[in-house]
Amino acid sequence: MATPNSSDSSTPAELAAPYGNGPAAASAAVPSGTTGGAGGGTGGAAEAPRKPAARIRTHHLYQAKVNGERFAMLTAYDQYTAEIFDQAGIEVLLVGDSASNNVFGNETSLPVTVDELLPLCRAVARSARRALVVADLPFGSYEVSAQQAVATGVRFLKEGLAHGVKIEGGKFYAETVRAMVQAGIPVMAHIGFTPQSEHALGGYRVQGRGDDAQRLIDDAVALADAGAFCVLMEMVPAATAAAVDAAVEVPTVGIGAGSATTGQVLVWQDMAGLRGGKMAKFVKQYADLRTSLSDAAKAYGEDVRSGQFPGPEHSF
Ligand code: KIV
Repeated sequence: MATPNSSDSSTPAELAAPYGNGPAAASAAVPSGTTGGAGGGTGGAAEAPRKPAARIRTHHLYQAKVNGERFAMLTAYDQYTAEIFDQAGIEVLLVGDSASNNVFGNETSLPVTVDELLPLCRAVARSARRALVVADLPFGSYEVSAQQAVATGVRFLKEGLAHGVKIEGGKFYAETVRAMVQAGIPVMAHIGFTPQSEHALGGYRVQGRGDDAQRLIDDAVALADAGAFCVLMEMVPAATAAAVDAAVEVPTVGIGAGSATTGQVLVWQDMAGLRGGKMAKFVKQYADLRTSLSDAAKAYGEDVRSGQFPGPEHSF
């Protein structure tokens, strides 16, 4: 079975370091007095530049599974969220094709294009100093052939500055994954409910129930054997996800897949309560940004209309 390189020469402490960095450590590692990228500022010239945080690599995720540790993944589509999540210690940032319905205003993930996602990916990759940045290959950009997948993957690493890509689909894509990995493109496989196939799957439906669990196990094994560094499962019963996780050496990530996976991922606008409307059962909201932003916008509007803003302190 092909697995990510676990014979890294790093010491155990170095390998463990990315998981030991809490928010304080992560932000302390951000150099001041530099320009561009996360934490770019105008610190004093006398300050010595601090060592940047170690970049999370695919082998760290593999090591996390070996060590029985977990990692967190969030979507990010722009500079500031990437910077904030990176400094908060989130290990993996996903420039998801969910930008289609969370940034570009589409109803589904299908319409978003490579040319739309690439600039978002670049912004995230430039802003995250520590997190592994993974980009989704959008619908239509890899299905035609392994060559098409390699060509699109190369664009995301070269023009999008991503560290890896994610593609949706089961064992049918094993040869595609193999070709991409041979070309030097780290691939995360996405199985279970795959939103790009929502029309083929008949809508948002849990996958891998009952006898169908074996199909997902076979998919995961084939994709991991082909060299995928991680298998992401979406909307899969917890028991099936646990069986998939046990069947592969590579780390797994879940979204609506229970707690047995090595990592968890959420769309950040769901996690932080920016998106309105009904949330999926698997979403936990950690903030209410929609209310905070709305309150801020209302207060600003009122201040402008009443002449409270700008005050003398905001004027030249
Ligand atoms: O694009 C995305 O946000 C995703 C997650 C649902 C895993 O693929």
